[in-house]
Amino acid sequence: MDSGDMRGKVCLVTGANAGLGKATVLRLAKLGASVIMVSRSRERGEAARRDIIGASGNTEVDLLVADLSSQAQIRRLAEDFRTLHSRLDVLVNNVGGVFMTRSLSADGIETSLALNHLAPFLLTSLLLDVVQASAPARIVNVTTRLGANTAIDFDDIQFEQRAYSGFSAYSETKLANMLFTYELARRLQGTGVTVNCVHPGVFRSNFGSEGMPPVMRILNVVVRPFMAEAARAAERVVYAATAPELAGVSGQYLGNRQPLTSPKQAYDEAAQARLWQLSVSLTGL
Ligand SMILES: NC(=O)c1ccc[n+]([C@@H]2O[C@H](COP(=O)([O-])OP(=O)(O)OC[C@H]3O[C@@H](n4cnc5c(N)ncnc54)[C@H](OP(=O)(O)O)[C@@H]3O)[C@@H](O)[C@H]2O)c1
Repeated sequence: MDSGDMRGKVCLVTGANAGLGKATVLRLAKLGASVIMVSRSRERGEAARRDIIGASGNTEVDLLVADLSSQAQIRRLAEDFRTLHSRLDVLVNNVGGVFMTRSLSADGIETSLALNHLAPFLLTSLLLDVVQASAPARIVNVTTRLGANTAIDFDDIQFEQRAYSGFSAYSETKLANMLFTYELARRLQGTGVTVNCVHPGVFRSNFGSEGMPPVMRILNVVVRPFMAEAARAAERVVYAATAPELAGVSGQYLGNRQPLTSPKQAYDEAAQARLWQLSVSLTGL
């Protein structure tokens, strides 16, 4: 069960103007939370905000604009948030994407790594003191289901030597979400802040709609009608963010309200520490 009442709680959701992020904001707004949406487009963000206010009747839904592939914009976002709010009870790191062609972010970092892992790492780090001051508080990282042998290639994490594969880059960065969750959960023990990651299931959204090879586009058209609605996926995220029975539960990888098993590498503390160090150096923290 979600918490029936989130009134007085402040939640921030990234990737909030579409797909799972928008459905998550709507669900949290219906529970009475004050929700800050993060979108890279003011226009798309405002349109989604209007929809959510209309559908929830909750006017405490605000928008902050930032392109989360840019570290300068993440830093500005964190400052903007601090100017407006003094507490953060729930941080949902939802933003993510799959990129079929290798590209570099504004900071010169491979885009999947920049957006899918370093954005949640940097934003969480910059807001962690506010989250800790709001304890009991929760951080939820949205990941996916991966094969047991999926592993981050630490010797070439940005695909500088390997042939680039959008699917591999996506999988390795979603695995990074798990390593980050486990390491952060250990670091936050005893603080009253929990951090869990969630597989939202497979659902209909704009995900992967750009740059897919023709065969994947055809496959997408065929399977789309059988996919779940984003609202169904949001139930899993909001469960992790609010369920009373998860109070104090941290360092879990959750599916449909049940713990899942991560790929082996996710549990390797040396790999977690290596990713942490690398993330610190790539974000200049
Ligand atoms: N769809 C699935 O079946 C599935 C399955 C497992 C896991 N997931 C995970 O679920 C999460 C959400 O995916 P989704 O399917 O809801 O995707 P989506 O429909 O593509 O929505 C992604 C959201 O992120 C925003 N975004 C993208 N790039 C951004 C950037 N550089 N800066 C700021 N915002 C940005 C998008 O904004 P714009 O509108 O501006 O693009 C949009 O609001 C991801 O982490 C994904 O890995 C999805």
